[in-house]
Amino acid sequence: TIVRISDDALALACGADAVATAFAEAGCTVERVSSWGLHWLEPLVEIAGQGFGPAAPADVPEILAGTSAKAIGQIADHPFLARQQRLTFARAGRTRPLSLDDHAATGGWAGLARARALAPEQVVAEVIASGLRGRGGAGFPAGIKWQTVAGAKGARKFIVCNADEGDSGTFADRMLMEGDPFQLLEGMAIAAHATGAQAGYIYVRSEYPHAITKLRAAIALAEPMIAPFAVELRVGAGAYVCGEETSLLNSIEGKRGEVRAKPPLPALEGLYGCPTVVNNVLTLAAVPHILRPGGAQAYAALGSGRSRGTMPVQLAGNIRHGGLFEVPFGMTLGELVMDIGGGTASGRPVKAVQVGGPLGAYIPPAQFHLPFDYEAFAEAQALIGHGGVVVFDDSADMGRMARFAFAFCAAESCGKCTPCRIGSTRGVELIDRLRAGQPVADPVAALPQMANAPKAPPSREAELALLDDLCEALELGSLCALGGFTPYPVRSALRHWPEDFET
Ligand code: NAI
Ligand code: SF4
Repeated sequence: TIVRISDDALALACGADAVATAFAEAGCTVERVSSWGLHWLEPLVEIAGQGFGPAAPADVPEILAGTSAKAIGQIADHPFLARQQRLTFARAGRTRPLSLDDHAATGGWAGLARARALAPEQVVAEVIASGLRGRGGAGFPAGIKWQTVAGAKGARKFIVCNADEGDSGTFADRMLMEGDPFQLLEGMAIAAHATGAQAGYIYVRSEYPHAITKLRAAIALAEPMIAPFAVELRVGAGAYVCGEETSLLNSIEGKRGEVRAKPPLPALEGLYGCPTVVNNVLTLAAVPHILRPGGAQAYAALGSGRSRGTMPVQLAGNIRHGGLFEVPFGMTLGELVMDIGGGTASGRPVKAVQVGGPLGAYIPPAQFHLPFDYEAFAEAQALIGHGGVVVFDDSADMGRMARFAFAFCAAESCGKCTPCRIGSTRGVELIDRLRAGQPVADPVAALPQMANAPKAPPSREAELALLDDLCEALELGSLCALGGFTPYPVRSALRHWPEDFET
């Protein structure tokens, strides 16, 4: 009997190795495959297409006897998968991550072969025609970025893959790197051909040891396929701000991970001062599909408004059916959270959903009609970011979450600009004062020489006005999104749950 079990980090964390060992001891042939992304069912066991999960070693005899209560039927027909349209994650669950045979048998390298048969400007034109936008969060058109790099003068050019996935509730980059690393390398090689780059770097966070191991092996195996283009891995040291493209470039160069002012854009003066494409894992991994015959048109035909193609949405937090859900843009947030995700895991009502990482807005169920697309979210003063959806039930304290946003900003700030470096700490103090219902004793004001300091404690209205002022300073005065976006969670929490900011 051939038994397929994922070796993705999430499956491993749920005990997949012990289940695999139990099947091997029962005389089965165990194949380690990528994860389907049905996280609540991991460790998920697959035998002849039939699924069983979440499986434990003790379930092995019943699964093999066909009497297991954990049977979920044909995995590919599971409603969670049947409602998806997987392009970037088409191989998820279906292939062995480091098998070149599996990759080639599922259309691997076809995009690269076609791209190399085209002139670089034709490849750029196809990516522009597909409507692909940067999946790291900002949604900048990928083809335009490539065009800028292609047209820039420089003896050396680079492709840098941003794999410093740091947003809360996100795991799509990790799943892709662990489950389908050749697809990422193929996308990078296509980008290199399109822009004239000779070398590439993947900057991956150190908290992803399994992805690092898989990527190292994949780079060695794929070397002949992507040559003369060559890729190296760089491992970050765990700073959130190193996911910002310019501090990421500094980090690769061995410098402190501090944000650089733009301009110059990395597309013109990036790594070592050379024209550089910096794209997220999911952006580059979408490219091989787009470069197949008819791929660009098929991609552009999906989605809504200016958000074209599919988005690998990541359902996480307090949610019953968490996992990877790739769909064309446009599905409403309510459908994603309630229909697909099944509401909260705790069974309590949903209070808030944070989309777009720790600096994304908190969205109440009253806004569940929002379609998942860049512009619709921006209009609602929210962002889709990297597609992470984190669900909170009614026990969440939104005042505490707003405080966390400031505390997070203070901890992760690179320190370059004042509103972020200092304002974040003042923000924590302000929220503490609001929630304490009284001003926190100010040691400076208490000094005798400060006799002219205001005697009366500031009113709640004055404190709220100060908070608003502080948010504006962060929003407009920060050099990068870390400081600039911290007001999103703060303001949204205050707007929708003002009672959580009271005593
Ligand atoms: P941005 O809007 O400044 O830039 C977007 C990209 O377009 C950059 O690569 C920039 O260099 C490029 N660009 C802009 N104009 C260009 C032009 N004319 N030609 C060529 N390239 C051009 O946004 P930024 O600061 O790079 O990213 C902010 C986003 O990062 C946020 O939306 C946030 O959601 C996301 N983010 C993602 C995280 C993750 O874990 N994936 C973590 C933290 C933030
Ligand atoms: Fe650094 Fe914060 Fe300024 Fe960004 S906003 S450059 S993280 S100090």
